Amino acid sequence: MHPDFGVSIAGVDLNAVTAEAGYPEIRAAFEEHSVLLFPNQHLDDEAQLAFARLFGPLEDRIERPAPKIAPLSNRKEDGSVAATDDMKTLSLKANQLWHTDSTFLPVPALANVLQARTVTSTGGETEFASTRAGWQRLTSAQQDRARGAFLWHRFSHSRARIDPDLARQPEITKWKAECWRAVWPNPVNGAEAIYVASHAFAVEGMDQAEGAAFIDELIAAMTPPEAIYTHRWSPGDVLLWDERATLHRGLPWPYAEERTLVSICVTATPADGLATVSRDGGLPVWPAR
Ligand SMILES: [Fe+2]
Repeated sequence: MHPDFGVSIAGVDLNAVTAEAGYPEIRAAFEEHSVLLFPNQHLDDEAQLAFARLFGPLEDRIERPAPKIAPLSNRKEDGSVAATDDMKTLSLKANQLWHTDSTFLPVPALANVLQARTVTSTGGETEFASTRAGWQRLTSAQQDRARGAFLWHRFSHSRARIDPDLARQPEITKWKAECWRAVWPNPVNGAEAIYVASHAFAVEGMDQAEGAAFIDELIAAMTPPEAIYTHRWSPGDVLLWDERATLHRGLPWPYAEERTLVSICVTATPADGLATVSRDGGLPVWPAR
């Protein structure tokens, strides 16, 4: 998909993948290539959840009896398309800032499994950059600085950059700030990657301005134009990415058109290197699903 990262995998029916058949090879490709595309899958919700569950516990920000697929859609309950200034649309626009998912949760995500259901006539692409490839472009002084840095993340920080009312919604403010190391080494192959997001608002031990400048500098260094893969969605595309080694963002679309993607995140576990990004080396607690 891009010379630095990402592979498209044809000829696999994700409905038929199990822990024994297919998953080991897909997991190895995930660790190596960071973004995997499976075109033309058209999975139903249960199949998408079952595929994601192979990678670890499913994330559920609402803590329902069972985790559910999260629709990323501007279509409202009554079937109409949300207005440009509707909270639903604003919330989707906030995903247009470079980020990796769930850095503001008590336990961050390992992966996202995202599928396109309804796509727009133009726009609405998802862009990716490899923070593992980006790491290699840093000077050794920059790498050393990042290795020693801990970033504070809060959901309302990224939402406030889009709209102050959005940032005040209870589903946004219910998450307190979390702190993670700015580098996440892959426990399988040892490759280091910058771990940063639009949710990052401060750096441990730096004053506000210095920290904000450091965060901006990291994101800019990871996302020069030549480092980006842009995915133009077709319905049924399934994208799986490694939250530890990538940044992504959505692109705008004509907001009068429906755009519906469906997502489920997988929560990181100790085997995914969680302790290496934890501030005190301990393991955060999150109900396993
Ligand atoms: Fe995202």
